[in-house]
Amino acid sequence: MKAPGDMIPWAKPHFWGDEARLVQEALESTWISGGPFVDRLEEALRHYLGVPHALLVANGTAALHVAYLALGIGPGDEVVVPGFGFLAAANIALQVGAVPVFVEVDPETWCMDPADTEAHITKRTRAIVAVHPYGNVCDLQALCAAAESRGIALIEDAAEAFGSRRGAPAGTSGTIGTFSFQATKTISTGEGGLVVTADAGLAEKMALYRSHGMRRQIYYWHEVPGHNFRLTNLQAALGYAQFLHLEEIVGQRRRIDQAYRRHLEGQEGLALQHFAPEVTPVVWAFALRLDPGIYAQGRDEVMRQMRAAGIETRPGFYPPSVQPLYAQVSLPVCEGISREVISLPTHPSVSDDQIAFISETLLGMRR
Ligand SMILES: Cc1ncc(COP(=O)(O)O)c(C=O)c1O
Repeated sequence: MKAPGDMIPWAKPHFWGDEARLVQEALESTWISGGPFVDRLEEALRHYLGVPHALLVANGTAALHVAYLALGIGPGDEVVVPGFGFLAAANIALQVGAVPVFVEVDPETWCMDPADTEAHITKRTRAIVAVHPYGNVCDLQALCAAAESRGIALIEDAAEAFGSRRGAPAGTSGTIGTFSFQATKTISTGEGGLVVTADAGLAEKMALYRSHGMRRQIYYWHEVPGHNFRLTNLQAALGYAQFLHLEEIVGQRRRIDQAYRRHLEGQEGLALQHFAPEVTPVVWAFALRLDPGIYAQGRDEVMRQMRAAGIETRPGFYPPSVQPLYAQVSLPVCEGISREVISLPTHPSVSDDQIAFISETLLGMRR
């Protein structure tokens, strides 16, 4: 059980034993910008995900940015994105001068709705971005078919779904897959990200845009107006150390998911995020909807009460329809999910006893 006075954090990086040694090795090598750990980690991830091309970048947002640049997405173009989820794909659309077009998600899986996605494709659409929420994986068969039939790209934003599968690993079925290795993610490099693709031409362009349009060993010659989206060797050493323990990491996340399910599944007032039977998730954050008829105090008050009990939680993502930056559409499903979702502490150091305590506390707040 939680010690009195301690706060159970919503997320907390966990180190598995090799981090200090490998970061020290990178430090001693004096390769602190680029370096051999970048190549090693890229190779390991390429192999793990079963993709021909994997490029490490500075973060998951840079991964989306480099993907858009390589696809030539710019002013006048539209990018179809889900209205529920972290809005990096929409923000970067604005950054490159494109228009994010928001679509509804499924009320149970919270994944992008393929029919609504199709309905929003126009002749200006250049890409669909399937954001895989909380470790779930969208209906890629339908979304791939929609993209292919219209000759546009499908980007999988798998920032929250590293290790999840829907047959293939999340991030590997579309034109480009992107990942985040930020501190709360399944494996972490502090800040970090990855792009993967089977398309050699896109991989080459993404490598150029990652590094000022320059090729390795051809100094100061710029083929495209690139950025500096590179990951450092120190970060890659940290990521490689984590990667060595991936099985344990995934095992711990499965333990947490199962433990919450044992306590919360089928309980009145709660609707856990639903995963299609063909999805094998690695849950990034265990999330559920609170029935406002049972949790009459509302989700935000529940979060406050949880905090008072020593438990940090997070709300659902605010939909674009309520944010002045985007407000342009009505997204009733996303708005409902956003108001009701709460996510619970989900990191390898949360013990089964703490999960029992968190679950009892949440269940005890029903009115
Ligand atoms: C779905 C999604 N996409 C993109 C990102 C951005 O990743 P990063 O924080 O590494 O830039 C995040 C958040 O971390 C995310 O949850």
